[in-house]
Amino acid sequence: MGITRGPILAIDMARMEEIQGVHFIRANITRPEVENEISAFLADSGRKFFQAVISDAMSRTTGHHDLDHSASYMICERVMQLCQSFLSENGNALVKQFQGDMTQGFKRKWERFFESSKIMKPKASRGTSSEVYILFKGFRRLIG
Ligand SMILES: C[S@@+](CC[C@H](N)C(=O)[O-])C[C@H]1O[C@@H](n2cnc3c(N)ncnc32)[C@H](O)[C@@H]1O
Repeated sequence: MGITRGPILAIDMARMEEIQGVHFIRANITRPEVENEISAFLADSGRKFFQAVISDAMSRTTGHHDLDHSASYMICERVMQLCQSFLSENGNALVKQFQGDMTQGFKRKWERFFESSKIMKPKASRGTSSEVYILFKGFRRLIG
């Protein structure tokens, strides 16, 4: 199976330096309007879905472990909700989260929509940081 090059959309609340071939929307992903903006981008690109959703979105850290964990959990929840609308069948999702009490539950909650899932700590991530990446592969859009 070959890899097809689809449209690339980046979203951030903060400004981002332009990257060739990447369309940027400055928006807060927790706001409902962002879904219309994503749909409009996909429609302009002649697509309905993305093949992959990758998120390292994170609010400013406070240094308080539980607060940082729950803030990152909430963002991850939102990213996974957006996957329900915008990820293609068999697509993959990768989200960053500050690990904590809710991380295993988060993985369990969403893995039923995917063929596989795993929690990873990439080498590039500082050993002292509690950040982990949760990879979900093979999206299945369940009805009902
Ligand atoms: C760790 S930085 C990564 C930034 C960029 N992806 C990079 O690699 O340089 C986390 C980013 O998440 C963004 N962010 C946090 N909450 C967000 C939200 N609700 N909607 C959109 N972006 C958000 C922040 O503005 C910040 O730029």
